[in-house]
Amino acid sequence: MQTQRVRIGSDEHKQLFCRSFIDTHDAYDPASLPWPDLDDASLNRLRAVPFWGTALQIERNAGFLVNAFAQQLADPLIRQAIALQGFEENRHALMIGTLVERYGLEAPIDTTLPAPTKRAFIDFGYNECLDSFFGFGIFRLARQAGVLPLDLIALFARVLHEEARHIVFFVNWIAYDRAKRGYGAPVLQSPATAIGYVRSLRRLIGLARGGRDNAESKKFGEAFNEVSFANLTLREFVASCLIENDAVMAPLDPRLLRPRVIPAIARFALRFMPAPKTEPTAESA
Ligand SMILES: [Fe+2]
Ligand SMILES: [Fe+2]
Repeated sequence: MQTQRVRIGSDEHKQLFCRSFIDTHDAYDPASLPWPDLDDASLNRLRAVPFWGTALQIERNAGFLVNAFAQQLADPLIRQAIALQGFEENRHALMIGTLVERYGLEAPIDTTLPAPTKRAFIDFGYNECLDSFFGFGIFRLARQAGVLPLDLIALFARVLHEEARHIVFFVNWIAYDRAKRGYGAPVLQSPATAIGYVRSLRRLIGLARGGRDNAESKKFGEAFNEVSFANLTLREFVASCLIENDAVMAPLDPRLLRPRVIPAIARFALRFMPAPKTEPTAESA
């Protein structure tokens, strides 16, 4: 089926990426979700995860940044859509906060909030594109390996779909914004996009380095030893990211731009990774 093209930077494009984002908003209250009772093994695994504080802080800062940036915008429709994203980011913080409180997890956070500038919003958008791609793969592997009860994992599927909507909204917004400022041609967009991803990658490497702690790694390894990912190859991980990425993007309007850089790099990298004995497939979800 031929997908009808929309000119990037046109009013039709703006209506499409804002309206489709607003219309696909899902109303739910984290506190009212059916949080399951967990057995000791599942509780130990949750408590051994060392990044609840980081995850909570990222979502909390995101809620503040996105909401505050939205209030600076003159265009009422874009402002409404970005404010809605801010609401959803705050709700992600509430999801993690509810999880932390209900299951007695540790989640220390730094209460410093980011300056809500356009640069910060753009950096955050690229960070989300990168983090979500890897998050999709981790979520898929966790679901397949049964590391936690499926009814708990199912509660977080809605967060995954919201992040997919956020990154699709972001790549459309930034393409629209650049086109409006006269930088719409691909040759003009590519360097800015590359810089955005390099800045995001630098932040991710910094986070990974900062997160290394032997005691935490040992605790994590012990709690997850029955469902060890020791046999997981890099190829399987990257393939899982790609399959889940395609799955969460599939329901979104085909006329919208999608994040392409990270999936394209991943597909290219897969060619150079040795094939595992059993390749994950979309049907094995
Ligand atoms: Fe979020
Ligand atoms: Fe998000």
